[in-house]
Amino acid sequence: TDGLEFVMSIVFLNGSYMPMDEAKISPMDRGFLFGDGIYEVIPSYDGKLVGFAPHIERMDQGMDLIGIKFGYSQDEWRAVCENLIEKNGGGNLGIYLHVSRGTDSKRFHAYPEGVEATVFAFVFEIPAAPVADKAVAKAYKVSSTEDLRWKRCNIKSTALLGNVMHFQQGYESGNNEIILYNADGEMTEGSACNAYIVKDGVVITPPLDHQILPGITRLMLLDILAKDGSVKVEERIVTMDEVRNADEIWLTSSSKEIAPVVELDGQPVGDGQIGATWEKAQALYSAGKYNY
Ligand code: PDD
Repeated sequence: TDGLEFVMSIVFLNGSYMPMDEAKISPMDRGFLFGDGIYEVIPSYDGKLVGFAPHIERMDQGMDLIGIKFGYSQDEWRAVCENLIEKNGGGNLGIYLHVSRGTDSKRFHAYPEGVEATVFAFVFEIPAAPVADKAVAKAYKVSSTEDLRWKRCNIKSTALLGNVMHFQQGYESGNNEIILYNADGEMTEGSACNAYIVKDGVVITPPLDHQILPGITRLMLLDILAKDGSVKVEERIVTMDEVRNADEIWLTSSSKEIAPVVELDGQPVGDGQIGATWEKAQALYSAGKYNY
C-alpha cells in the first residue's frame, strides 16, 4: 500500500469498542426517534482530560432530570474516555459521551419500562487549546438573533434542533457563532457556547437558569477568576444594549475554551481587537484548567 490508508476511528457502544462503521443501533432507539438522550463533550489534550468530574456530574444530573436510569460510575466513564484516547492515538480530542433512553419496540411517547439505555462514545479532533496571546488567537465573528429554543436549556439534551437551526443562521451569514437573546432583549448564550461581556474591566455573564446550559468551561473559568481575584466577575442579566456597547465579548465551550469575539452583526466589538481582559483570563484558564 502507499501507507496512506484511512484509519477508521474506534468508538464505544454498549460496553464494546469497535470501528465506527461497525457501530449499529436500532432505528427504534429513542435517541433517534425523539432526541431522547443526554450527552457530554469533554476535551482532552495529550491524554489529559479537562473538567472530567464536573462533566460527569452534569451528565448524571441531566439523566436524573429526564428520568434516564443509568449508572456508570466516574471510574467507569473515565475508563471509557482513557480507552478511546488510547485506541485513537491521543492528541487534541473532544470526547463525546451519549446516553439515550434506549430502544423500544414501539413508538410511544411515554418513558418505557424495562428498556436499557444505549451508551455511545467517540472522539473527534479539536483545535489546539488557545494560547493567551492576542497576536495569535483566533478572533471570532458572531451575529445575533432571538433565542427560539425551549425553556429547558439547562438540560444537555441530544435534542439539539433548536441549537442547530440557530447555529446554521450564524454560519450561513459567514459568522463563527450566533449570540441569542430572549424576548426581553437579554442575552442568553450562544447556540453552542456560553456568552460574556467585559465592560470597564468587569466580566459579566448571565446567571444560571433554564435559559442557558450550565457550561463546565463557565464553571471553571468563574472559579479560576474568583480564586485569582484580579478580574472582577458579575453574574447578572446582560441586555443586548450592553452587549452592543461592550469593550469585549467572549464565548466559552469545551472545545474553544475562551473565544474572543471582535465583530457582532458586522460591527466591531470595542476597538475591534482582541481585548486585554481576554488575554488575562485565558492565561489564568490555561494555567488552572487541569485542576478540575
Ligand atoms: N457545546 N451552551 C450550549 C448551548 C452548548 O451546547 C455548550 C457546549 C455550552 C458550553 O458548555 P461547556 O463549557 O460545558 O462545553 C453552552 C458542546 C461543546 C457541543 O454541543 O458540542
